[in-house]
Amino acid sequence: MSPATQKPSGIFITLEGGEGSGKTTQARRLCDWLTTQGWQVLHTREPGGTLLAERVRGLLLDHSAEAIAPETEAWLILAARRQHVDHVIKPALQQGMIVVCDRFSDSTIAYQGYGRGLDLRVLRTMNKWATGKLVPHLTLLFDVPVRVGLRRRRSQRASQNRIDREATQFHEKVRAGFRTLARQEPRRMVVFDASLPLESVQQHVVTFITRWFKRRGIQQLQQR
Ligand SMILES: Nc1ncnc2c1ncn2[C@@H]1O[C@H](COP(=O)(O)OP(=O)(O)O)[C@@H](O)[C@H]1O
Ligand SMILES: [Mg+2]
Repeated sequence: MSPATQKPSGIFITLEGGEGSGKTTQARRLCDWLTTQGWQVLHTREPGGTLLAERVRGLLLDHSAEAIAPETEAWLILAARRQHVDHVIKPALQQGMIVVCDRFSDSTIAYQGYGRGLDLRVLRTMNKWATGKLVPHLTLLFDVPVRVGLRRRRSQRASQNRIDREATQFHEKVRAGFRTLARQEPRRMVVFDASLPLESVQQHVVTFITRWFKRRGIQQLQQR
């Protein structure tokens, strides 16, 4: 079989949640921990992950740009996703790596669907089209009250991006959307209470993943 037709043997883990829920922090810590456990890890993010997709990220997060229609936002994100899947995620999975991705398809449903009000069915179809039906093996959802997440973001030195500046009501819809998704797919999506201290959240993640690997008999791959 050529590499392109081989079934990917890696593990695809995504981190989801609202602004300031701790995704980026936890992704970094999770990758460090997986590496110490002997895994080959690829840490990436969306929108972004390739040269072109990172440029799209810049367009999406720049609040000085012209007003962006929800549909335009969706198309840009999905276009970037396709690049990311083809050039970064699938090749790493085919090499048997663990891919840890900060945001993926669920963010599109939560933000552009539940948040902006675009048709969920259309978005799901577009997501399949963009990902070539690639679905994460496991999704960690970091759930935090909106005001807590936004406060954390505001205390960061980096300036506020276009999404951070959205109304609280928008962020509430996104949070509710994520929680609905987790209820619909409890086997794939696991919810963590992200209002806990950073170290506690990390400990819960490590405990959960250790069990998750064990349940699936994945530990032997560690020797790779
Ligand atoms: N559990 C936590 N408790 C307190 N502060 C946190 C926690 N998780 C993250 N933070 C802080 O909140 C800010 C946003 O975290 P970040 O990981 O960038 O969130 P996200 O990527 O979800 O927007 C950072 O300054 C980070 O150190
Ligand atoms: Mg982040």
